[in-house]
Amino acid sequence: MSTLSNKRIIVGISGGIAAYKSAEIVRRLQDAGAEVRVVMSRGAEEFIRPLTLQALSGHPVHADLLDPEAEAGMGHIELARWADLLLIAPATADFIASMVHGRANSLLNAIYLATPAIVAVAPAMNQGMWSHPATSDNIQQLSQRQVKILGPDTGVQACGDIGPGRMQQPARLVEQVADCFATGKLSGKRLVITAGPTREAIDPVRYISNHSSGKMGYALAAAAAEAGAEVTLISGPVNLGPPDRCKLIPVVSAADMHNATIAACADADILIAAAAVADYRPVSVATQKIKKHADAVNLELEKNVDIVSAAASQFSDLYVVGFAAETQDVERYARDKLERKNLDAIVANDVSRSDVGFNSDNNEARWITATASKAFSIRSKTQLARDIVDAIAEQLGLQ
Ligand code: PMT
Repeated sequence: MSTLSNKRIIVGISGGIAAYKSAEIVRRLQDAGAEVRVVMSRGAEEFIRPLTLQALSGHPVHADLLDPEAEAGMGHIELARWADLLLIAPATADFIASMVHGRANSLLNAIYLATPAIVAVAPAMNQGMWSHPATSDNIQQLSQRQVKILGPDTGVQACGDIGPGRMQQPARLVEQVADCFATGKLSGKRLVITAGPTREAIDPVRYISNHSSGKMGYALAAAAAEAGAEVTLISGPVNLGPPDRCKLIPVVSAADMHNATIAACADADILIAAAAVADYRPVSVATQKIKKHADAVNLELEKNVDIVSAAASQFSDLYVVGFAAETQDVERYARDKLERKNLDAIVANDVSRSDVGFNSDNNEARWITATASKAFSIRSKTQLARDIVDAIAEQLGLQ
């Protein structure tokens, strides 16, 4: 899951040679899950055909301020309101100057003035133009108005000069655009998150496990990364792609998860234990597949280490958040686990329902600490994860 997932981004292209790279920016933003619309200046059309960008974005390219057809569909004010972020790439020296002066003589300028969205520019110009005091002043003014300045790069330029002024590579720009959405509440914090089920081997082909899909833990990892944390995600076997900007440590059994979690917590600030760890494992694992000769088989099980308890008692400075998966008396059992496992907070959820809990895209939960309790009504796991991250930040005074 990316920070850019479902984000609405206008890619504004002004007239410079780097405009050819905008096609790749559009594609990469879409690959990261963003919805993209393209607005071009008249100058940009000299460098790249609108048709290319229309084909890539899947939407008409906007260019005219006074286009009655566009205004009847999505006009410039609607476009300005629609966007979560306006990225101007490339941003020429002239376009940057026109932003500073608040000109509204082109569609792109008008959108810049009208939009409440985050605005980012990727400067692209000759090194002499970039170094000129007029440009430096303009960049400083935009920066003071909270416009994000992405780049430029230094290197060989289209004109043969060498120096600063090249537009950054599309992959780097897309990373920086994603960073613009980070809330930053957990900046500088190191988080360990456990997710998914564990598998406890019976023999080489069979195991004991549960219904955890990992969705809750992965959503937490994405939300924490979005909030600026350095995230280590320790995951049992799931069918999910690795979340962006997280270090993923895949594990299989509870013992593996225990070892990985204790090692990762040694230099972490926060642990969120969302994994559904198998409480028991077979005492012995058959080396060969067990044959079906007998009508009944007795499996002797022994208890796995309680990972979240072990981490809470070993690392006294760690802020530890557990989950309680219950099928009845949810709050009472959760409070008992909060105390017994020595946790700072617990997220209680009902796993007897099919619309929330295991494997669902949604969840409903209660955040409980020794002194507070807060209900989160049914919502997507993505949103719940963000709410849990906010609750942690609030507890730690990081708002
Ligand atoms: O993965 P999903 O399909 O998205 O489903 C999400 C979820 C239901 C798995 C998740 O929201 C959840 O409730 N996770 C905790 C599941 C669980 O094992 O709860 P528990 O009440 O049995 O355990 C309490 C706490 O102790 C949990 O934080 C658990 O990670 C931890 N634990 C349990 C046993 C053990 N040996 N070690 C542990 O660390």
